[in-house]
Order: sequence, then C-alpha cells, then structure tokens
Amino acid sequence: MKKLLLFFIPLFAATQVLAEFQRAENGMVSSRSDIASEVGKDILAQGGNAIDAAVAVGFALAVSYPSAGNIGGGGFMVYRSSEGEVYTQDFREKAPRAAHRDMFLDENGDVDRNLSRNSLLATGVPGSVAGHLDALERFGSMSREQVMAPAIQLAEEGFILNEDLASQFADNLPRFEQYPASLATFSNNDQAYQAGDLWQQPELAETLRRIAAEGRDGFYKGPVADMLVASMETHDGLITHADLESYQPLWREAVHGSYQGYDIWSMPTPSSGGILLIEMLNMLEPYNLGELGWGSTESIHLMIEAQRRAYADRAEHLGDPDFYEVPRQMLLSKEYARQRFADFDPQRASDSQDIDAGNWPAESPQTTHYSIIDAEGNAVSITTTLNASYGNKFVVPGAGFLLNNEMDDFSSSPNTPNGFGLIGREANAIAPEKRMLSSMTPTIITRDDEVFLITGSPGGSTIINTILQVVINTIDHDMNIDDAVNSPRFHHQWLPNIVRYEEGAIQESVVQELRALGHVGISLSPFRIGDANSIMVVEDAYEGVSDSRNDGGVAGF
Ligand code: DON
Repeated sequence: MKKLLLFFIPLFAATQVLAEFQRAENGMVSSRSDIASEVGKDILAQGGNAIDAAVAVGFALAVSYPSAGNIGGGGFMVYRSSEGEVYTQDFREKAPRAAHRDMFLDENGDVDRNLSRNSLLATGVPGSVAGHLDALERFGSMSREQVMAPAIQLAEEGFILNEDLASQFADNLPRFEQYPASLATFSNNDQAYQAGDLWQQPELAETLRRIAAEGRDGFYKGPVADMLVASMETHDGLITHADLESYQPLWREAVHGSYQGYDIWSMPTPSSGGILLIEMLNMLEPYNLGELGWGSTESIHLMIEAQRRAYADRAEHLGDPDFYEVPRQMLLSKEYARQRFADFDPQRASDSQDIDAGNWPAESPQTTHYSIIDAEGNAVSITTTLNASYGNKFVVPGAGFLLNNEMDDFSSSPNTPNGFGLIGREANAIAPEKRMLSSMTPTIITRDDEVFLITGSPGGSTIINTILQVVINTIDHDMNIDDAVNSPRFHHQWLPNIVRYEEGAIQESVVQELRALGHVGISLSPFRIGDANSIMVVEDAYEGVSDSRNDGGVAGF
C-alpha cells in the first residue's frame, strides 16, 4: 500500500502523506527518518555541534532508513561554520583498483545493466564511514562513542517498524531472497515484516560497535573488511583489502555562485550538482522569474531550456576532477551562462539532438538528504546513498550492512544512458580508483554572510532540478520553506527530451502552451520528484520541513 504512496500515486492524492514543519530556536535536524532526526536533535540538545549531530544522524540513518542511509555507500557534505568558512567533503565511493572501462560490456559491446546494478561488481569502495569519522575528527566536539551510541542502541535493541519501512521490506523481498543474509535481515523468518513488528539488527550493531571502538579501522580493516572481501570473492566482486585500506574522503573547495544577491555554496565534482545548479541559476538570473510568476508558461519554458543546456554540459564535461580536466571556472561563470543561453527563444523549444537516448528508471531508487543547524549557526547539508534503493540488495553476511551499486553512475559506454537515463562520455568513463559522477546537490545558501537555506535531495538525475526549484521558490517567489519544498516540481534533463511534472506543477493550459512552443514530450511523472528535507533561517528562528512527499521528520528545540 505504502509503496504505491512512495512513488506511484500522484502528489497530494493521499491523506496519509505527512507534512512536517517545525519552528525552533536552538537547533534543528530534518531528515527522511523521524527516528534519526530525534537522534540528531538529542545530540544538539546535549551540547553537540552540527557536525556531531550530522555524524550521529548519518549512522542512525544506516539503521533506521536502510534503503539509503548507509555505511556501505557514500555521499557528499557541505559544511558552513558559524565563522563563515565553507567546506565540502567528498565521501563518494571509488571504483576498485581492478575496475576497468569496459567491465560492464557484454560480448556485443552492449552495457549489461544487470551487472552494473544488481551484482557485486556494481559496488564501489564505500566512503561513508571514513567520511563521517574524518568530519567528526576535524570539526566535531564529541567522541566517536558518544555520537555512535544512539545508532548502536537502535540496531541492537531495535525499533518498531512503521508502515513505510515494513512495506518497503515486503516489496523488496523477492530481491532480498537471492542472498541469505539479506533475507535474514529484511524478513521475519522468511515472512514479510508487518508494521508494528520490532526490527533488530544485531550484526549491524556489532559492526557499528567495532567502528565506535576502533575508528575507521573497525570498518576498513579487521573482521568487517574480511567479511566484505570474502563476499566479493564468493560473488565475483572486485573490492580488495587494499581498496578498503586506501580509501580516503577528500575535502574540496565548494563551488560558489551568486543569485539575486544570495550566495550559493554547493558540491563540486565528482558531483555535478553544484556546478549545474549554479550554471542554471546564472542562465536564469537575467529574467525576473518572480515577476513571470510561479508555474507560468514563460517561467517554465525558461527553466526547461536552462535545464536542457546544463544537463548537456554535464554529459560532456563532468567527471572526477582527479581524472579529468573539468572546466569548472567556465561552467560557473556568468559570462559563459550568458553565451550558452544566447540562443534561447521565448517562442520556441530548442532541440535536444539525438532524442530518446535514455529511459527512465523502472524501479524507485533512493538516496537521502538531511539538513542540520545548531545554536551557533553551524550548518550541515548532507546527501548520501547506496544508489538504488537498498543498493545491490546484498547484505554482507556477518556484518549486517548493505552494499551500494554506485558503479552504475559511471558512463559504462559513451552516450549510453545509465539507470537515470543520463548519458556521459570520456569525463565519466570507468577507471581504477576513480569516483563516479553524481547528481547529489547538498547546498547551503547565505545572504549577507548569514545562513539562509540548507537544502538537498535524493532523486538521481532529478536532484539538481529539485534544488533549482527549491531555490527559485524561496528567492524569486518568496515562499516560506514549507511551500518552497512542498510545491510540485517538474524535470527535464536534455536527454531523453521529455518533461515530467508532478500533479499541480504545470496547469493543463500551460501544458498546452508549452506543447505549442515545441515541448512535445511533456507528461505527468509516474514518480514523485525529490525529497528535499530543508531548513530556512528566519529572523531569530529556524524553520524546517521534511518533504511531504515521503515520511520523515523535523526535530528542533
Ligand atoms: O549520485 C547520484 O547521483 C545517484 N547515485 C543518486 C541516486 C539517487 O538519488 C536515487 N534516488 N532517489
């Protein structure tokens, strides 16, 4: 029942959908799991800072929201200290050393999607544990034991499953059945869990306890690493002890842009999110979207055309900057955006050459975003993922955690769409130890050197457009955070040349007008677009919302 709610029932159709909104003064956490948000709030209330809370929430999500919260995956963090310094941390997965460019091609040279998504070859070297612990060491104030205690307790003592999680587990049961440890974790003695059941994860608790005691070595070395590598050996995966031991998260310079007097701070490559967000805002800045009106034909036409151009640039120019020269300054410059948008025709849709390159994902993939702010104004924006929902569905026997299938984010073959219909080329080709290109867009926006907005979202290729719309809703349309996040959205990504919209995002008359301009492939989205758990700073308070498209919770105090 709830699975339908997650992605296939048109927005706003179901009364069960929870809109969560809170106003608080001392600190706030917004995430996809109310349990994890409470964990983060408690850490803040005990005097922890935003990074302490972020690390606690990250580990708690690995327990309470296992489809995307993880220790076997990776992600990105944008952190702004109360002194105004902005840092980004890349804890994205890496290709194992034995990976190679053609590893997902079959004998005909075609991409074998089953291999790139549903096998242990699909797994990149996980980054979440190293990233979280490194952030804690650099900016946290509490001990590892303190911030990990709630996650350990949750895994060990368990928690009562709600309808959301119980139905996700039930829906995925046929996939979990492939692997005994996955079945044991996500079923109740081989039968589907029901809402109201207690769910415990003793093996995950043990793994978390090792990490708390030994730090990163508790995951990247020793028994947990042995169990992960043994799984690789049994199931033809590539990750070795050397891959695990050498994994390092990287601190990178945030991408920075400006829009209507606000400063945008976001994630650089290997995520495409920050660069594309700023490129699109730069293209749109000369037009007064506020005056054109939310949902007007003119503003939607403008935004689709900005999306088309930016996503085309993504395919050509973006990849891991340690392997490919990304023209970052060019893509971020207002002059480039002006030139790139010079052929915009208010009367006509432009062509996305080679239409129909891609397909939309058939399954509902998941990632998750959380936003945190503490009493001092330290702000954290983190998006993390296993790529698909529950990654490759493989729970490491004995260690109790799921593996990602992030390798599918590479361009396994030039111009061949990945799971999100995104194409890429040389910039994002597979290479040993390279990080796969992402769309995750954790973002912090400031105004006059004060935090204004903390946002980000899951949604694969739709992430960047989700954030674009949250930003435009707040800045151009003066919406409060509740409306900005919960307004319906649309998405275009150059190829395939189609526009998908949530119910209410585009009025029927506007759909007709857009078709007349040449946007012929425009239709209702079969799934919800994004899940932007966000916080806005208003006067002397914080206002947070957990996106009403899904369960989740804001916890403030
Ligand atoms: O990094 C990326 O862009 C993707 N692996 C994110 C996957 C995702 O958002 C799935 N979400 N709903």
